[in-house]
Amino acid sequence: MTTILGIETSCDDTAAAVVSDGRVAHSNVVSSQLDLHAQFGGVFPEVASRAHAESISAVVNRAMDEADVCYQQLDAIAVTQGPGLIGSLLVGINFAKGLALATDKPLLGINHLEGHVYSLLLEPNNADIHFPVVVLIASGGHSELLLMTGHGEYRRLGGTIDDAAGEAFDKVGRTLGLPFPGGPAIERAARNGDATAYSFPIAQTGSPYDFSFSGLKTAVLRQVTVQPTGPGQRKRRRGAEKRAQLRYDIDIADVAAAFQGAVTEALTRVTIRAARQFHCTEIWLSGGVSANQMLRHKMREESRLPVRYPPLALCTDNAAMIAAAAHYRFLAGQRSGLDFEARSSWRLSGETYAE
Ligand code: KG4
Ligand code: ZN
Repeated sequence: MTTILGIETSCDDTAAAVVSDGRVAHSNVVSSQLDLHAQFGGVFPEVASRAHAESISAVVNRAMDEADVCYQQLDAIAVTQGPGLIGSLLVGINFAKGLALATDKPLLGINHLEGHVYSLLLEPNNADIHFPVVVLIASGGHSELLLMTGHGEYRRLGGTIDDAAGEAFDKVGRTLGLPFPGGPAIERAARNGDATAYSFPIAQTGSPYDFSFSGLKTAVLRQVTVQPTGPGQRKRRRGAEKRAQLRYDIDIADVAAAFQGAVTEALTRVTIRAARQFHCTEIWLSGGVSANQMLRHKMREESRLPVRYPPLALCTDNAAMIAAAAHYRFLAGQRSGLDFEARSSWRLSGETYAE
């Protein structure tokens, strides 16, 4: 059995978890900074790194206490190396390096996106996997479509060419005056809405496996807000979702349902197209947007393949997924030196165990 402490600080959640064999989370502590960032309607990088620095020690101690393990019992320490906000990543990385040095444990730097992939294996029902699988990672920072042919073997098929799916939820949520993050708020609002009340465009891109959500976001903005008319006002369209005034006759539930319908339809169409083309045996959904029940439902309705997703609590950022991804790398003999650096951008592709 391997037991790994995972640490995640790539964005606005300070997280630590202890996981055995990449499958069983003994603890999973997430300290959210949502309250700090809500006033900005998004994540404010400097506020995020300072908050990580303030809470990381307590979060790691709590994860160790709740798992009831001591450092001697750990096989390794894993930390998110990237992609993410550099200042935030550095807090987790430096803490993990110090801990590895002090406890003389091996250290592994993990790709956050690979963490999202391995969050699926923390669901007990997802025990029996058959590669190749198509993986959709849809979160606030990423919308990636991968072909996974084995543990650590990825081919990037496509991704968003503009906004990430979660980012579109967040921006439209802000336009509609809903709380941040927009995804869960839009899903809640959409429950009482009629998705056919509005018709929003689903973008076609140059590649069959890419996504585009920026046109959809703009279409919603045009539909629901009072449009600027004067020449001076028109110039200020950029970032207009922050200032635009909602039309009085808008039904927010209907807009939320129609927007959610368009995003989930785009994600479903492209993912199923890739699964067919590459003869995949399963479809995997991960990242914050995979918590969306409409997305899960559509994917199951429209594909005959098994559709798997992580436990609801592990769709959004957490450290259990980082420890789970590290398990397979640890078994493959991979270790990171104490001098590895944070990577603000880092695509998941190639046979990454062979690097
Ligand atoms: O994976 P995550 O925690 O962070 C990133 O790595 O980006 O994803 C957060 C994103 C946010 O944009 C949020 O609006 C979206 O996931 N999200 C959802 C839902 N829950 C979270 N989007 C749609 N429906 C949801 N239920
Ligand atoms: Zn994430």
